[in-house]
Amino acid sequence: MTIKTLIRTIPHYPKPGIQFRDITTLLKDPIGFRMVIDAFAQHYANHNVDKIAGIEARGFIIGAALAYKLGVGFVPVRKSGKLPAETIGHDYALEYGADRVEIHTDAVAQGERVLLVDDLIATGGTAEATVALLQKLGADVLGCAFVINLPDLGGAQRLSDAGLVPFSLCEFE
Ligand code: PRP
Ligand code: ADE
Repeated sequence: MTIKTLIRTIPHYPKPGIQFRDITTLLKDPIGFRMVIDAFAQHYANHNVDKIAGIEARGFIIGAALAYKLGVGFVPVRKSGKLPAETIGHDYALEYGADRVEIHTDAVAQGERVLLVDDLIATGGTAEATVALLQKLGADVLGCAFVINLPDLGGAQRLSDAGLVPFSLCEFE
């Protein structure tokens, strides 16, 4: 059993034409979920990670488990209006719409080495917006980890072109 085979595809969700890559089937499989966290933990073991920033909503699930495994702190990057203290935010376009991410201004300290984690990279808009927030707070974004890369949408390439280092566990064309 591989990580990729445990991911389910839902055609035409949430909009006509979108092939939605659904990780709930991966997460409910105890071996599959552990394979994901162990693969990331092994990859980033020697990267001196100080904190993990996980993107709402599915990045919370992967990011929090990985933070626990690596013994580092977890920072939630949330959609608009969800965080209680002082925030900064960034608007971005999605494969199927538009959104805004926000982070607490005291979430990371100057110079901290932060690993961004999400379930999937498509256009890269969400990840780029999150990186912009982290960098504005003075973080050193050491990498961007995704379970799934959709290479046809160019997001991982966009991150690489911007000098960031994407890493993913599987791809869907
Ligand atoms: C999905 C996914 C990523 C983002 C990737 O989240 O979990 O966060 O899209 O797309 P991009 O690379 O084109 O920016 P979604 O916006 O569906 O939000 P949700 O996790 O809150 O459902
Ligand atoms: N986020 C953006 N595009 C997606 C897709 N095709 N499947 C799941 N999440 C997504």
